[in-house]
Amino acid sequence: MYLEEISHTTGVTLVLCAFALLLLVLHGRRREPGCSLPPGPTPWPLVGNLFQMEEQIHLSLTNLRVQYGDVFQMKMGSLVVVVLSGYSTIKEALVRKGEAFAGRPNFFTFSAIANGTSMTFSEKYGEAWVHHKKICRNALKTFSQAKSRDSSASCLLEERISAEALDMMEALQKQADEVGDSGLDPVKLLVTSVANVVCTLCFGKRYAHDDKEFLTIVNINNELLRLFAAGNLADFFPIFRYLPSPSLRKMLEYIDRMNNFMERHISEHLITFDRNCIRDITDALIAMCEDRQEDEKTAMLSDSQIIHSVIDIFGAGFDTIITGLQWSLLYLIKFPDIQAKILQEIENQVGMNRLPQFKDKPNMPYTEAFIYEVFRHASYMPFTIPHCTTDNVTLNGYFIPKDTCVFINQYQVNHDMDIWGDAEAFRPERFLSLSGHLNKTLTEKVMIFGIGIRRCLGDSFARLEMFVFLTTLLHRLHIENVPGQELDLSSAFALTMKPKPFRIKISTRN
Ligand code: HEM
Ligand SMILES: *[C@@H]1O[C@H](CO)[C@@H](O)[C@H](O)[C@H]1NC(C)=O
Ligand SMILES: *[C@@H]1O[C@H](CO)[C@@H](O)[C@H](O)[C@H]1NC(C)=O
Ligand SMILES: *[C@@H]1O[C@H](CO)[C@@H](O)[C@H](O)[C@H]1NC(C)=O
Repeated sequence: MYLEEISHTTGVTLVLCAFALLLLVLHGRRREPGCSLPPGPTPWPLVGNLFQMEEQIHLSLTNLRVQYGDVFQMKMGSLVVVVLSGYSTIKEALVRKGEAFAGRPNFFTFSAIANGTSMTFSEKYGEAWVHHKKICRNALKTFSQAKSRDSSASCLLEERISAEALDMMEALQKQADEVGDSGLDPVKLLVTSVANVVCTLCFGKRYAHDDKEFLTIVNINNELLRLFAAGNLADFFPIFRYLPSPSLRKMLEYIDRMNNFMERHISEHLITFDRNCIRDITDALIAMCEDRQEDEKTAMLSDSQIIHSVIDIFGAGFDTIITGLQWSLLYLIKFPDIQAKILQEIENQVGMNRLPQFKDKPNMPYTEAFIYEVFRHASYMPFTIPHCTTDNVTLNGYFIPKDTCVFINQYQVNHDMDIWGDAEAFRPERFLSLSGHLNKTLTEKVMIFGIGIRRCLGDSFARLEMFVFLTTLLHRLHIENVPGQELDLSSAFALTMKPKPFRIKISTRN
């Protein structure tokens, strides 16, 4: 009886509490007339919705969209996260309401990168940031489009990419002769070749494929990008910043080593700088600092911020491309008839007497469609880098307060049945019109570089590089699956998702 009474009282208390909570919620919603907070799964105390996420976070969040719609909210630990899906909703947020969504959350892990001076990760959105991004864009563009030293290439970028692609193709060919039928894992060569393209642009230095230091730095960079996937406990539970955590310590150590590598290159450049001979992006940024009295706008940024722009470009400039090429190779051996169609296009448009160049790309819509389909189907950047609201904003009728962390679900857009129909099929033809041209309405719905103010700086760079690497490879080599090897197209959640390791069998075309 006594127990019954207690449970009765508890019952009443519970009802009262629930009522109070309801009032509180309603009150909270009344803040902005006509606007409620986004819906979402009920969070648990302390952990929020963290344990409702499956290991493949992008799939969990894509499923939650079915229930809660394009704008929903959840809690990762103590952090409220709004998740955006749907092409038109994302476009509304990042383009039409772009400024309100252009911030980055002040994640603990982000603040360590480049000592807190990173344009990509740690700078507050505002006028100075806008100018900083412009400096990065100009530095990349000026150097990419600079005149090539040899006359066969149209610009420096093409010269660098063609040289590395040719070198890699020949190295692969040589390795293939040694290993024979058992096939080889192309990743190591891919990694150093692609990293060298951006390393020569940034620091004017090319490393040998087996250079220990270079391999270490490249691996650390890859590891960091893996760890930076939205899912760092230290970012969601402030307490983890103070507890001894091996993975966080490792991450901070990696960031430190990465910073040291960059700092060493930068200080070497500062010593040997000669304004009559601008060797690379670092030199160009140093020159910009020296000229800055004449340009008021740069006064908003410190010398160190301007010169550290090279870290943003170097850090973002290879892992994403390498991953794209890894996926491309996997699809090429999984679907040999697609490889045959690309080869056909190479034979028709390039011929066998010269290597593929930038200028061939617009004439090879099937190959371009293939690259778009790799981006779409693999969706290997399932989310953009996390965003943050810079102001109170409403989206689809929901109120999102200033300083809310926002995830953009690119994976969902790339697999939206309403846009793609047979989204799970790998079918480059879906991008081609009857006349064989690329359908721009569809290609622009492939979401892999983000859109709007925070859009990737290197997207055209990346597309060109992937195009030349792939066509140069296929120009002379036939690649196929190793007998008996299962090809697995699934991937594990990360900021950039890699395919499971696989081997390829290479033979020379005659
Ligand atoms: C296939 C290759 C690439 C992919 C898939 C890719 C994808 C992305 C994505 C998803 C973002 C985040 C956008 C957002 O937060 O909304 C981003 C940002 C960025 N990317 Fe890329 N990227 C690639 C290659 C490159 C290259 C080659 C460079 C430079 C040489 C580069 C430089 C940057 C920079 C600097 C940012 C930060 C922009 C900002 O915070 O405003 N990316 N990229
Ligand atoms: C944002 O909205 C909240 C709640 O409605 C209000 O208290 C706050 O002043 C607003 N902030 C800005 C910057 O408008
Ligand atoms: C990093 O920032 C700290 C404090 O702002 C400064 O003392 C230090 O010199 C910086 N390190 C580098 C490598 O820029
Ligand atoms: C491009 O694709 C869209 C959507 O499937 C379609 O409505 C449109 O007619 C296509 N345009 C061309 C030129 O084929």
